[in-house]
Amino acid sequence: MRVFITGGAGFLGSALANRLVREGHTVLVLDDLSAGDPQRLDPRVVFHRGDVRDVPRLWTLLQGVDLVYHLAARVSVPESILYPRIYQDVNVGGTVALLEAMRDAGVRRLVLASSGAVYGDQPVQPVHEDLLPRPRSTYAVTKLAAEHFVLTLGRLWGFEVVVLRIFNAYGPGQPLPVAHAPVTTRFLQQAIEGGTLVIFGDGRQTRDFVYVEDVVEALVAAGRRPDLNGEILNIGSGRETSINELAEMVMRAVGRRVPVVHSPAQDGGVARLCADLRKAEQRLGYRPKVSLEEGLRRMLREDPRFRISG
Ligand SMILES: NC(=O)c1ccc[n+]([C@@H]2O[C@H](COP(=O)([O-])OP(=O)(O)OC[C@H]3O[C@@H](n4cnc5c(N)ncnc54)[C@H](O)[C@@H]3O)[C@@H](O)[C@H]2O)c1
Repeated sequence: MRVFITGGAGFLGSALANRLVREGHTVLVLDDLSAGDPQRLDPRVVFHRGDVRDVPRLWTLLQGVDLVYHLAARVSVPESILYPRIYQDVNVGGTVALLEAMRDAGVRRLVLASSGAVYGDQPVQPVHEDLLPRPRSTYAVTKLAAEHFVLTLGRLWGFEVVVLRIFNAYGPGQPLPVAHAPVTTRFLQQAIEGGTLVIFGDGRQTRDFVYVEDVVEALVAAGRRPDLNGEILNIGSGRETSINELAEMVMRAVGRRVPVVHSPAQDGGVARLCADLRKAEQRLGYRPKVSLEEGLRRMLREDPRFRISG
């Protein structure tokens, strides 16, 4: 297959691109490098630097493509609240631009990386795909809007589209931007450096942490299954972990206790979030394999940033 991945130099996109190229597919990546790093990519991946809103460029690159994975997005919740316009522009406008370019280039199959964040605060956990989304941040709003564009235009234009709502992904190589460092990677780094684990809020808020390899497995399966048109599927671990529990697990994995401090809760977060995986299991055959304990051990083993010196 000839596969095109937007945002393919990012954390999840590069893992997907490397996996597909190893399987022998031709893989093209488009990424503007606002957050990505092309050095993560296997040399066989064909990398193009560019913006997902650039329809003429997309049209050229999409010639002969069988399958598109759309991962390009701005991904910071706090930043999205400060700068909603750029989030709407890239996450929504970029999705619509990609759909138009696909239509014009005759490409008809798309997998969208959406987010568990679209659920927002829900009265029941774990959350299943039929619940009414209640987004709590601009980021979540833009991911939900992108879902609607993909599903609606997909139906109108006769595309095959699949939406994966990915929960909190983590794994080796996950970037650590200062302004919005993902909690798993940030805790590991702080514990290893003998620093302080900073928990926003009381730490009783929960998340569903899913290992990068499990997410890649789901993305690959979603691109292959023939009977998923128009479906939305949760991709998580199915296990609910509080941030306080995560802090304890990180300290156990690193083998060192460090001080924990609490800082005011950030805007845009939710109290609880855990994926109901029944639909993904039935429709995609998805079963996460890597527990959080094992994922943390693998990060310590495989990510050079976390090698304990001496
Ligand atoms: N990592 C997670 O926990 C998670 C959870 C849910 C959903 N997602 C979704 O998965 C996708 C990938 O996330 P990630 O964690 O790998 O983030 P990431 O920031 O590492 O990857 C996003 C990539 O998109 C690129 N990009 C941004 N704007 C672009 C533009 N205008 N044109 C072209 N490229 C652009 C960035 O340079 C980056 O490489 C995103 O759509 C995100 O919303 C991620």
